[in-house]
Amino acid sequence: MIILGIESSCDETGVAVYCSDRGLLAHELHSQVDLHAVYGGVVPEIASRDHLRRLLPLIRQALAGAGIQRPDLIAYTAGPGLVGALMVGGGVANGLGLAWDCPVVPVHHMEGHLLAPMLEETSPEFPFLALLVSGGHTMLVAVAGLGDYELLGTTLDDAVGEAFDKTAKLLGLGYPGGPALARLAEGGDDEAVALPRPMVNKPGFDFSFSGLKTAVMLEVRKAEAAGDFEARRADLAASFQRAAVDTLVTRSLQAARNKGLQRIVVAGGVGANRLLRSEMARRFDGDVQYPRMEFCTDNGAMIAVAGALRAAQGSSANEIRAQPRWPLDSLVPPGELETA
Ligand code: KG4
Ligand code: ZN
Repeated sequence: MIILGIESSCDETGVAVYCSDRGLLAHELHSQVDLHAVYGGVVPEIASRDHLRRLLPLIRQALAGAGIQRPDLIAYTAGPGLVGALMVGGGVANGLGLAWDCPVVPVHHMEGHLLAPMLEETSPEFPFLALLVSGGHTMLVAVAGLGDYELLGTTLDDAVGEAFDKTAKLLGLGYPGGPALARLAEGGDDEAVALPRPMVNKPGFDFSFSGLKTAVMLEVRKAEAAGDFEARRADLAASFQRAAVDTLVTRSLQAARNKGLQRIVVAGGVGANRLLRSEMARRFDGDVQYPRMEFCTDNGAMIAVAGALRAAQGSSANEIRAQPRWPLDSLVPPGELETA
């Protein structure tokens, strides 16, 4: 079966062609980062308009790259995300489904992230603990099988990617700040500034990152008053990154131990962070798996593979679905009826 995957929930237009036997055949991505950078964050209206402009040419390119005329199935991101951006992807997916007379499957964006490692040859087996870390989410999920998700913890305030982005801004870096902050941190001393590891000693598996960002803000003000902000930027970046990563890894190990899980899958944009990858591998004595770097951030391939897995087990709905809020743990295994 050949699946066309479409991602348009935020500021990346992603399209992929995936074959259930041969794997990924083609993928195309257009990032809107430059369009939004001048505003310091994603502007929803601009995002929708750019998806409109990019989507059809990207679909044409991906189909040509894969050497196919039309897919057997179309999978698109139906939520969570920006409603206008979702409507563009959903409208195009369902329009093409009608024209090609093929089924169309709505996919949950975070389920896409969670299943992205399934694109690799050594795909993770169920059950596993998923750490989903992006600009909008920070979640620990016990994954028993496809659609069988127990939400163990989430953030009480900022998502960890958001904390990276806001801290990067404090340090004078552009948007999105995560990768830029990680680069600046390479030249810094991660023990130079004492920062909190929020929540790690509290019961449960929730996170909180706004206090960490505020702690950096106070340090920035101190450094500015002392006139050595420039000299301390790299140390601040390194200390922040170390504190955020320590927190994510400690919480993940606590959850894995509590649930008796031997495998951790890290996915979402912050999953591209190299320190997070090396620390998780160093501190967890089980198996740790990731999507490849380019499929950590938003992309069409993860939507195609999630659609393929769901469709293989009989779930497809021919309606345009755009659901900005859609809790991951309201999902059910394919074939069962969703409650929320
Ligand atoms: O999954 P994603 O592409 O989009 C969302 O669904 O949010 O994640 C984007 C987030 C941004 O906050 C970005 O700063 C962060 O992932 N990010 C990183 C790195 N690469 C991307 N954060 C830390 N280190 C990185 N290397
Ligand atoms: Zn995402």
